[in-house]
Amino acid sequence: MARIEGVCREVCDATEYVTIVTQGPDGPHLAGHWGSYMRIVDPGATVVFPVGRFQRTEQNLKANGRIQLMVASHKVAGTRSPGQGCVIAGSGEVVTAGEHVDLVREKFPWARGALVVRVESVATQL
Ligand SMILES: Cc1cc2nc3c(=O)[nH]c(=O)nc-3n(C[C@H](O)[C@H](O)[C@H](O)COP(=O)(O)O)c2cc1C
Repeated sequence: MARIEGVCREVCDATEYVTIVTQGPDGPHLAGHWGSYMRIVDPGATVVFPVGRFQRTEQNLKANGRIQLMVASHKVAGTRSPGQGCVIAGSGEVVTAGEHVDLVREKFPWARGALVVRVESVATQL
C-alpha cells in the first residue's frame, strides 16, 4: 500500500481540480472534483470526496473497483521545470453512511455520500 506524502501531498494541496477515472462498460469514464474538496486521511492512505451526483462513477465502481485520480499544479516544482502532477491509483467505492460521510458532511452538508479511495500507488508525472 502506498501513501500520499511528500511532493504528491504538496500537489494534492495545490491542485485546482481532480480528474477521476473509472472503467465503465463502454470504456473509461471521466468525472471531476475540486481539489479543495478532497480530504486526505488515514495518514495519506485514503482520499475522500463529497458526492452529490457521481451516479455513473458509483455504478462503475460496483462492477470494477479500480479508480485513478490525477492532480496537478504549476506551483509545485517538477524535476526539470515548474509544475508537477501525480496519478493516484487504488480501489474506490461510494458510501452513504459511516465515518467518511460524517467527515465530508462537516463541510459539505449537501453530500449524499462520500467517494472513498484506498490508495495503492502514487506516481509523479514530471
Ligand atoms: C472541477 C469539477 C468539480 C466538480 N464538483 C462536484 C461536486 O462538488 N459535487 C458533485 O457531485 N459533482 C461535482 N462535479 C461533477 C462530477 O465530476 C460528475 O461529473 C457528475 O457528478 C456526474 O458524475 P457521473 O458521470 O459519475 O454520473 C465536478 C466536476 C468538475 C469537473
